Amino acid sequence: MARIIDGSALARSLDAQTAAEAAELKSRHGIVPGLAVILVGNDPASEVYVARKIKGCARVGITSFEHRLPHDCSEAEVLALIAALNGDRAIHGILVQVPLPPQIDPARVLGAIDPAKDVDGFHPVNVGRLSTGTGGLVPCTPLGVMKLLDTVVDDYRGLNAVVIGKSNIVGKPIAMLLLEREATVTVTHIETRGLPEIARQADIVIAAAGSPRLVRGFWIREGAIVIDVGITRVPGQDGRKDRLVGDAAIDEMAHAAAVTPVPGGVGPMTIACLLSNTVTASRGAMP
Ligand code: GUN
Repeated sequence: MARIIDGSALARSLDAQTAAEAAELKSRHGIVPGLAVILVGNDPASEVYVARKIKGCARVGITSFEHRLPHDCSEAEVLALIAALNGDRAIHGILVQVPLPPQIDPARVLGAIDPAKDVDGFHPVNVGRLSTGTGGLVPCTPLGVMKLLDTVVDDYRGLNAVVIGKSNIVGKPIAMLLLEREATVTVTHIETRGLPEIARQADIVIAAAGSPRLVRGFWIREGAIVIDVGITRVPGQDGRKDRLVGDAAIDEMAHAAAVTPVPGGVGPMTIACLLSNTVTASRGAMP
């Protein structure tokens, strides 16, 4: 059977480390890490994610500040809020939950965040740093994926990694992180031809297409590692609860070396990495 990589357990141990670092910042430097979370509108999935992020802050000693704006608010209002938070010394991290309503340009909003407070790693300065290997804040889900992979991979040099999905939030930054470790990286997407054959060459498959059970068992070669980033909520039938379904059919992957479950794989690590990034950002406020 494939090893199941327990993202919940890894997230708990990262949270313990983050909590210890936050406590030390407070006792040694009088700094209480502060995270501002901006939610525009009431997209139900975003509501759930934001609630988890805020709960996570309380768990590790980060003060959270939730800012909710109505779905019809203007881009100027969001930009004004970001400008105020950029100048607020109690705030070390700023997160704008995406997607944003159509009247708001995400590039303009994310680009307005002070890169030093950009705990999502979405600002072009941090994207540029990641792609040139020059530091900066790294997007939370890709960072979590690497930490999960690190539990089963010692040396990435020369391994074939296939990334399925080319989003700015997940696919592209994961490709950069894998390249930095000297894996051979193939980035694929919805228009890629012969995807099953390409995936079958991989030592590592990162499934981040947002398409439930896209990646089947026969796509995966014996002994490969599968990281499932997809989380799709499927409505429950006959009064049953909704289910979360990943991009990988891991029940068909007994021949893999290791796989991540959904839920309980990448999801908890995304939150844990956000909290860790917030403490990292708050170090910048040290005297
Ligand atoms: N929406 C989906 N994933 C994310 C994320 O990691 N950060 C933010 N801000 N919004 C998201």
